[in-house]
Amino acid sequence: MARYEIIGGNQLNGTVTISGAKNAAVAILPAALLVNGKCRVENVPDISDVRILLSILEDMGVVIQREPNGVVELDCTNIRNTNPNPELVCKMRASYYLMGALLSRFGKASVALPGGCSFASRPIDQHLKGFRALGAKVTETEEYVHLEPGENGLQGNRVSLDVVSVGATINIIMAACLLPGQTIIENAAKEPHIVDLANFLNTMGARISGAGTDTVKIRGVESLQGGNYAIIPDQIEAGTYLAAVAAAGGNVLVQNVIPKHMSCITTKLAEMGAKIINYDDAIRIQSDGKLHCTTVKTRPYPGFPTDMQAQICVCMVVAEGLSKLTESVYETRFFGYCSELERMGAHIEVIGKTANVTGRPKLRAADVVARDLRAGAALVIAGLTAEGVTRVSDIHYVERGYERLVEKMTALGANIRKVED
Ligand code: EPU
Repeated sequence: MARYEIIGGNQLNGTVTISGAKNAAVAILPAALLVNGKCRVENVPDISDVRILLSILEDMGVVIQREPNGVVELDCTNIRNTNPNPELVCKMRASYYLMGALLSRFGKASVALPGGCSFASRPIDQHLKGFRALGAKVTETEEYVHLEPGENGLQGNRVSLDVVSVGATINIIMAACLLPGQTIIENAAKEPHIVDLANFLNTMGARISGAGTDTVKIRGVESLQGGNYAIIPDQIEAGTYLAAVAAAGGNVLVQNVIPKHMSCITTKLAEMGAKIINYDDAIRIQSDGKLHCTTVKTRPYPGFPTDMQAQICVCMVVAEGLSKLTESVYETRFFGYCSELERMGAHIEVIGKTANVTGRPKLRAADVVARDLRAGAALVIAGLTAEGVTRVSDIHYVERGYERLVEKMTALGANIRKVED
């Protein structure tokens, strides 16, 4: 068990470099299973979700070499075991991508149900609907999903998603890559990591078009060959540092970002009073920590990301006036952190999908619990602004998705340390 201890009150100054995107990495690494050869992937973040995924792949026979500076080489030529280790699979959410990748390359898959942050009910019915449309027979048990070819075999088809789902879009893209014929995904999600996954697969020889729009087309190919690819920067990690500076005050250059991916977040922070300057691959944020209230509604990309809900909530908590924060992707996400923020003096009233946040300029330190990844990141930001020593426990959640958080925050002047019990 480990916790963060944060002594609040310091402004943040300097430069922070953003790591490769977690949600792109956790899709691209299993997608390497589609490649009959060696992939060299750069900008892979060193976070626990990635470490678990690499262990699963290694156990299946993928030859993996990790170099310093986020380079991972995967050779998926000889897969000896197509049954991913269930104990590892259920430790993370994105292990569900093994289903699409194995179905496409080997025509079958038996994968345990995924785990991960449980801030809401997170069904995978749309993933399974997609596999069925591609001709798979899907058998679900309490703990497993088994996929095999149905009566007419596996082939491309049209899939119209009932809800916009990042995971289902990615899983169906992977499943369709090596099947005969064309697959068309309608009502697809448009997040930057979907485009990144498609770019990775196209670099290896896939034929995917339309990623980043709501219609993605995949023309099946016989095989994929190896190649080099660099993962995009993490939109949410960058957004978390921007929110931290906005709330705590300071002047920070957030570098290695794609400003276009950030505009849904920076627009809101600017509305709240932070000064934002965009460069080609960096964003400077300046804030005196005195923010104004605002209204935010989370939506799929290009809207304001649900994965920034908790962090912007902390900005609202320390801002002047009444803010409204509406969640439209995961209704129950507020429960992961609002009660913890209230222990620090926040005034938040959750009514259905909306949190009414009455700003209160100063928070007080408290012992709080991280209940999921983004909730934990929000509590760190709250601790940076609070008077006294805030202790955030259960930080294994935070370590799922933030590379070297303590080191990066400390370099900006934060007083934060990790304490192992
Ligand atoms: N949904 C269904 N059926 C499905 C799939 C999704 O009803 O089969 C619903 C969900 O319940 C939710 C909505 O559709 O209401 C969107 O879910 P989505 O499938 O897009 O979420 P996901 O793919 O499971 C990814 C990220 C999450 C992020 C969401 C939304 C990964 C590994 N995870 O989850 O990231 O919150 O998209 O953007 O990419 C995080 O990084 O902290 C995180 C939780």
